[in-house]
Amino acid sequence: MNDNLHQLRCIGCGARIAGAKALPDFRCSECGDLFEVEYPGWGQRRGPDRPNAGALKWLWRERRCSSEALDHSGVWRFRELLPILDSFGNAVTLREGNTPLYHLPRASKALGIDQLFAKHQGMNPTGSFKDTGMTAAMSVAKERGYEWVACASTGNTSAAMAAYAARAGLRSLVVIPDGKIAWGKLAQAMDYGAVTCQVKADFDGCLKLLIQVVKEANIYLLNSVNPYRLEGQKTPAFEIAEAFDWNVPDHLIVPGGNLGNSSALGKGFRELHELGLVARVPRISVIQAVGANPLVRSFETSHGSSLQPMEAHTRATAIRIGNPASWRKAVRVIQDTGGWCLDVTEAEIAIAKAELGSEGLGCEPASAVTLAGLKKLRARGDVSPGETVVLLLTGHTLKDAEYTIEFHRGTLLRDEETVGLEAEIDALRKNAQAVEATPGAVLAALKGRAG
Ligand code: F0G
Repeated sequence: MNDNLHQLRCIGCGARIAGAKALPDFRCSECGDLFEVEYPGWGQRRGPDRPNAGALKWLWRERRCSSEALDHSGVWRFRELLPILDSFGNAVTLREGNTPLYHLPRASKALGIDQLFAKHQGMNPTGSFKDTGMTAAMSVAKERGYEWVACASTGNTSAAMAAYAARAGLRSLVVIPDGKIAWGKLAQAMDYGAVTCQVKADFDGCLKLLIQVVKEANIYLLNSVNPYRLEGQKTPAFEIAEAFDWNVPDHLIVPGGNLGNSSALGKGFRELHELGLVARVPRISVIQAVGANPLVRSFETSHGSSLQPMEAHTRATAIRIGNPASWRKAVRVIQDTGGWCLDVTEAEIAIAKAELGSEGLGCEPASAVTLAGLKKLRARGDVSPGETVVLLLTGHTLKDAEYTIEFHRGTLLRDEETVGLEAEIDALRKNAQAVEATPGAVLAALKGRAG
């Protein structure tokens, strides 16, 4: 059976090519822009290739009770909407997706928004949202007979790639910025057997270097310039829509780094809408760190029509990116959905992360920008109390334990970064205490901590 119904379309000049004809760097040979996956059969009102909305909703739900490995994947459960393989039998899965959607009672109360939720993509097999994209693109790499795959990464992509490559029986090459990625992520790449090159460059420099490498050797590039990554990463949109019984939330808030994820989620909701599975799409807003905010600057200076690369600095290392590859796709998503793009400070990120922690939902600092951003949007009056809002948490708290420990020890932020926020931060800090090995000393530690 041929499960493959796709072609690639350049987002810049509209050129269309067969999937297998893409260049190693996934740039258009005509205009240099990126491609996105397109399914020509979906444009027709009728015909065998246009999915049937009602039947799909039923089928996808049924698959939750199935014993098939592919049906256990929260990505491949929706495979009718990602027909990118010649055979779905080639899919490489670690049972990714199907991540929880949690209500946030404390943040809801504090912000006066009753319907506030977190979709926790950190609950994926390697602890980040990258798994949903990696299962899709790694399956393509395997089906097309590659022996080597590679990515540049701030850590999570490399962890996911190394794991899926190991499952697929492929070799993997990771290029990461020396000293600038969280230990948990580096450990994963090593554990899953990647060849790991630590390079004296930032993420943007690593990606540039790797693109030169893949042009010279037969290595399949698995960064999010690879459009198949985004096909997998669009599926949390399906999960969210399904969780709300196909009435989509009003607003989805996503962190922005290389800007693949916001682009993918926008595509997911757009396709659901075009196929008649949902009646509208949510607003999608993108939040960056102040020190790594090229998209915010792009909106400020040119309404998103040009982007000036910058040197990026933030302790949220996952989004320490100054020259995001998918910025044009993200601009389109924000503009088409009526979302916003804004930035938050290092202290705001740390506070939001601790607040999510106090709800029992740890996450990476890069994920916490979503709550910090929501607070700003709420204060500006851009989010009203009656709205349903979903924050997309992208990574697991244990990825970057060092950040969390430094926050609670009080060594994370410099004094000038916390001006006016000292009391708020002190209330959230829960440092470990050195205590005598006696019951009395342990009980004394509880004094003043009740409630
Ligand atoms: N959150 C986390 C935890 C990430 O790891 C990333 C990106 C993002 C948010 C931003 O997503 O790039 O699609 O806008 N991490 C990449 C990596 C760059 O190499 O792991 P984006």
